[in-house]
Amino acid sequence: MTQQQYVPLEQYERLMARYERLIEISQKLNSTLDLGALLRRILDAATELTETEYASILLIDPASGQLRFEASSNLSRAEMEAIPVPLEGSLAGWVVTHGEPVLVEDARQDQRWFPRVDKTTQLITRSLLAVPMNVQGESIGVLEVINKHVGKSWTQEDVDTLSTLANQAAIAVQNARLFQQSDFIAEMVHELRTPLAALKASIALLLRPTLPEEMREEIVRTMHDETERLTNLTNDFLDLARLESGRTRLAPTQFEVRELIEECVELVRPRAAERHITIHVQGARHATEADRNKIKQVLLNLLTNAIKYNREGGTITCAVETSAEATDRCPPDHLLISVADSGVGMSEEEQSHIFEKFYRAPTVASDVGGTGLGLAIARCIVEAHECQMGFTSEQGVGTTFYFTLPAVETHIEHDKHLPGSAELTSTPED
Ligand SMILES: Nc1ncnc2c1ncn2[C@@H]1O[C@H](COP(=O)(O)OP(=O)(O)O)[C@@H](O)[C@H]1O
Ligand SMILES: [Mg+2]
Repeated sequence: MTQQQYVPLEQYERLMARYERLIEISQKLNSTLDLGALLRRILDAATELTETEYASILLIDPASGQLRFEASSNLSRAEMEAIPVPLEGSLAGWVVTHGEPVLVEDARQDQRWFPRVDKTTQLITRSLLAVPMNVQGESIGVLEVINKHVGKSWTQEDVDTLSTLANQAAIAVQNARLFQQSDFIAEMVHELRTPLAALKASIALLLRPTLPEEMREEIVRTMHDETERLTNLTNDFLDLARLESGRTRLAPTQFEVRELIEECVELVRPRAAERHITIHVQGARHATEADRNKIKQVLLNLLTNAIKYNREGGTITCAVETSAEATDRCPPDHLLISVADSGVGMSEEEQSHIFEKFYRAPTVASDVGGTGLGLAIARCIVEAHECQMGFTSEQGVGTTFYFTLPAVETHIEHDKHLPGSAELTSTPED
């Protein structure tokens, strides 16, 4: 930042810098489980954007009820541990108990100031801005910045920026705590917070009257993407939660598998064409009895994965086959449905995780969108039919996912002009 007086250009640059840092951090909230690294990033952004010397994060320690330094730009780990900060008789304590920011030009003159940090360390506190870190209306700690650079004065923007950062820090802390419990609800909340945090930061910026038009567009685009993500996530969560709790009722009908495959292939073909990927369908017209919509969901997920994790100009082969004898993939009287791609493949390490909820291979996760729930859902659906799903994969060569379905010997009236005709002729059971 330059030493100039306030001019509009500088304001824009600062606004731009703030926007970029805030968005960058809200995106990191998703990918980083390393709380320490994330909090350090937040502290860096805090001192840089508010033009101050030091920044610290203090959290309420549930055991002692006192505040403890969790991260600091200037205190060592030993110093942080040696100095508990009381709720009564400290500015940070006042902020947590009142849930409001505090800004003091001369901390030493303030009755609430806690002198021990300065006494124990080399720090000389002059001015101080501290804001609460709120989670669901409750303060769990404080983010504070100390000593505005000489010649600069505090602004309302400092308070707003620091509050946004404090909320992000609160989410990061909450995520880390929830992640330790690692049950489904905790993971779900963790995943939902990220798009929400990005939306919140975006809205705060949109409300500023001085925002340049091109930034407005970029922010709206971010908001659109994050809203998409939220919609996909919530739909997937619901599906999986229902499946896992056994509350999903299957509605089995008899239908022809190849016809369903062709229907799914038509749905994904435009996406495949974008990447010049060719899809082949193979196999005779075998019938099965299963929940057609659910199996459609499985096929669509496998096909979308085969497109997303394929190479430009690659191929996909989707096949249905039957064998009289049992194989290691398929018991007798079953159909084997497979989706083979010529894509990136997976390492052995990646292969051991892919059915885990929220798992996405680190090499691909940043390039293509996804929730990491698709395969967990697909396998649940197949297993709900008392069938199996498996895969083989070779890095750099490709991946084949396969699953089984019961073969039934029914003659299904087939009308090529009515893609959904199988449903019309089937007999739903209740
Ligand atoms: N056909 C494939 N080729 C390579 N990797 C795949 C394939 N399908 C799935 N994966 C890996 O498994 C992960 C989980 O897949 P999935 O549960 O469908 O979630 P998502 O597609 O939303 O990331 C993917 O992120 C990817 O890393
Ligand atoms: Mg997927």
